[in-house]
Amino acid sequence: MAWQASCLLRNISRLVLIDDVLLISTPKSGTTWLKALIFATMKRTCYTNSTHPLLTTNPHDCVPFFEFEPKSILDSGCKIVYLCRDPKDVLISMWYFLAKVRSKELPPLSLEETVDLFSRGIFGFGPFWDHVQGYWKASLECPERIFFITYEEMKRDTFVKVKRMAEFLGQPFSMEEETERVVEEIIELCSFGKLKNLEVNKNGSRNPSFKNDVFFRKGEVGDWRNHLTPQMVERLDQITNEKLPGLF
Ligand code: A3P
Repeated sequence: MAWQASCLLRNISRLVLIDDVLLISTPKSGTTWLKALIFATMKRTCYTNSTHPLLTTNPHDCVPFFEFEPKSILDSGCKIVYLCRDPKDVLISMWYFLAKVRSKELPPLSLEETVDLFSRGIFGFGPFWDHVQGYWKASLECPERIFFITYEEMKRDTFVKVKRMAEFLGQPFSMEEETERVVEEIIELCSFGKLKNLEVNKNGSRNPSFKNDVFFRKGEVGDWRNHLTPQMVERLDQITNEKLPGLF
């Protein structure tokens, strides 16, 4: 447990707070989507469909980021949702994101350079694979504290995973809610197509340097196939197979 705790502490770099729940993710893994889903699930009795904050507020303003090192995340008593994604898609997503938000005074980052930096662990909030590995192991030891989910699983089986996540969060959907299709409504509210096309996310801006549309690009699994060379894939997969065997 001590090892897990220190591992968690070392990796605790990107945190999001929702009441007593932390959402922890590596960047570009679908954080915006999960923030929306968790917020909509946990606050589902507070708002009607037409007044829902997600219709007018970017998910990052419904669930703020906080970046600091709590003394011990395990001691905090918080439940943790941990989100990650196939590193190849994370890399492509980040590459596009950086092209939009990086200072225009800096030269653009080539894909080759981005693959090289990412593979060597040089990535916002620390090395990708170590970040995921620490939480993956901890989630196997403490499943009641850490709900570990991948973007791919969430995409494949959104209905089942949202229900399981609500149970983990201590707010399971009742039979009545299921009959009233509350789960489907939450999934629709938080869907890529719905959020991307809201005015707040098309033209709104929560950061003076860029518009909210940077958070919504393609929202698909496997876009890396359209960008990475076989050599790049081999390099990335080799590290994944070593550090996270069987996860993706
Ligand atoms: P792509 O660049 O592959 O499209 P994060 O929110 O952690 O920064 O992750 C960004 C990725 O999540 C982007 O992936 C973005 O398009 C995708 N995304 C954002 N909102 C989503 C949603 N509601 N459903 C699915 N994917 C979403």
